Amino acid sequence: MPGTGPAPAEIMIVGEAPGFSEDVQGAPFVGPAGRLLDTLLGQIGLSREQVFITNVLKCRPPQNRDPMPNEAEACLPYLRRQFALVRPKAVLILGRHALERMLPGVGTISRVHGRVFMRSGVAFIPCYHPAAALHNSGLLADLQQDFDHARGYLDELLAGPAPEVAAETGPPATEPEREPEQLPLIP
Ligand code: URA
Repeated sequence: MPGTGPAPAEIMIVGEAPGFSEDVQGAPFVGPAGRLLDTLLGQIGLSREQVFITNVLKCRPPQNRDPMPNEAEACLPYLRRQFALVRPKAVLILGRHALERMLPGVGTISRVHGRVFMRSGVAFIPCYHPAAALHNSGLLADLQQDFDHARGYLDELLAGPAPEVAAETGPPATEPEREPEQLPLIP
């Protein structure tokens, strides 16, 4: 199941792996987690038709188990190619498995969610996985905040350089974190 959405697209969303519903329908995030994702996107003024949605793994792991490192490794060339075609300005990384593959070594999802990591001019923003918020409703507010944060970053980015007057009023709401480290997606 490769993914859905326009290419190019300003925003790319990367989850973990297709689940049962995704496998049946051949589209990402169409089950309960997908419905929450649609709501979250709607809350920041986006529809799923405007963003490219995919997963690290292109096939559903048997019995819905966690992805194995060699499986993620095998699928990485597809994700890399998608990234090259979509040319996103921002990538929302959903959940700890996608985070481990896409920004290895930056820290746990609970520590870095909502932060902006710049890699070769692209903003990578880890967020809690919608499925995690369905299991633990305490994470929902954090997840909404992560999406709000991403929206704020995109608004700043799309608005271009801040006018001088605005610059004097203080730092932007989202201060991108710049790290020199190589990202597996960017050659
Ligand atoms: N969870 C994911 O990570 N991806 C999907 O496509 C569906 C559920």
